[in-house]
Amino acid sequence: MKKILLCGYMASGKTTIARLLGKASGMPVLDLDEVIEKKTDKSVSRIFAEDGEITFRRLEHDNLKALLENENGFILSLGGGTPCYANNHLFLQQDDVISVYLKTGIDELVKRLRQQGKERPLLEKLPDDELHEYVAKHLFDRSYYYHQAKHVVVTDGRSPEDVINQIMSLF
Ligand code: S3P
Repeated sequence: MKKILLCGYMASGKTTIARLLGKASGMPVLDLDEVIEKKTDKSVSRIFAEDGEITFRRLEHDNLKALLENENGFILSLGGGTPCYANNHLFLQQDDVISVYLKTGIDELVKRLRQQGKERPLLEKLPDDELHEYVAKHLFDRSYYYHQAKHVVVTDGRSPEDVINQIMSLF
């Protein structure tokens, strides 16, 4: 069975779309951050603060690799940085993987990041007036890796249902 990987910048809707896709398809849904939090019994923020980002990136790589070695199909939302470290972008190209980049524009990302209460260690020390510039630069740097996904799905101005229907047509 196919493994569906959703990648994209923080607040691009990976987790929400994964859950809705799971409901629509009946496939199991996993979230890489949550898998890591369960395994380590620590929040992502605590891992960043106590063990450092490199430890988190290693956990991301090891857990993603282990999940992909599993025979069964699933829908997995990755962390915003997952494809950008440890050659993880190569997993997006694997034969039994359907990888999707949820592509959301900078203004929409910044709007959502301001609205959402989620703890995000990379952004927590950033003054609000620097957020837009930071996201623009960061997204530019990461874009190459996101575009290693087999499919690009633009989310701006579209309902989640519309996005889900497009992704469902890919498998
Ligand atoms: C990160 C994104 C987060 C989480 C961690 C690092 C990133 O996931 O994995 O804070 O490097 O972009 P979300 O994209 O779900 O916020």
